[in-house]
Amino acid sequence: MKFTAALALPLLAAAAPASEPTSNPNFGVMAVRSASPIHYLQMNAVGQKFYLGGKTASYCPDQVTHCPPGNQTIFTPGGSSLDVNVPGGQQVYVDPKGALSFTQAHSANIPAGSAIGPFVYSPDEPWAHYSFNGWGASGFMACPTEDSRWQVFAAIQNATVPKGDVEECLGFSALALPYDGDVPAWQYI
Ligand SMILES: *[C@@H]1O[C@H](CO)[C@@H](O)[C@H](O)[C@H]1NC(C)=O
Ligand SMILES: *[C@@H]1O[C@H](CO)[C@@H](O)[C@H](O)[C@H]1NC(C)=O
Repeated sequence: MKFTAALALPLLAAAAPASEPTSNPNFGVMAVRSASPIHYLQMNAVGQKFYLGGKTASYCPDQVTHCPPGNQTIFTPGGSSLDVNVPGGQQVYVDPKGALSFTQAHSANIPAGSAIGPFVYSPDEPWAHYSFNGWGASGFMACPTEDSRWQVFAAIQNATVPKGDVEECLGFSALALPYDGDVPAWQYI
């Protein structure tokens, strides 16, 4: 299934998917928080962090013959890493400020004081959900940035958010949309 808002909206309104889904698939994430500016925005990897809306940031070296499009942010089963070709992969973690983050390609470096999980994929019907349950959090929130984007944080009161006030953040439900296409990106940047 392609992961686009245009495609997912009619699917959301329809009944459960026709084909039997894999119980633990790769997936993309869409935020659900009705009557809010983040409702139905896709989660995108940008600058080793994640944002709702906007575009995925990715890179593929010239010497790679068949570069994937790199325009969708897809997690591997369970949500502890990203679905990439780059050797070593890219791990997902929550940084010491509470920001959902991913490792740079060719580096396993995760800052001290980060949480590497638990990330949880719940295969609820009809739609699965993705969550971070470390530090007593139950899921994610989106916080406004100075440049008018929504950055993804663990839903914790003590997060250090871009504009300083955690009360401005919106908790959201992270819908996990199964993805069964080719590896979507060489690496996220
Ligand atoms: C990604 O790029 C490919 C190739 O340009 C295009 O066919 C596809 O529709 C794009 N997908 C998304 C989700 O933007
Ligand atoms: C927030 O509080 C939790 C629970 O007290 C603690 O484990 C965690 O390190 C703190 N995280 C941040 C980002 O300050």
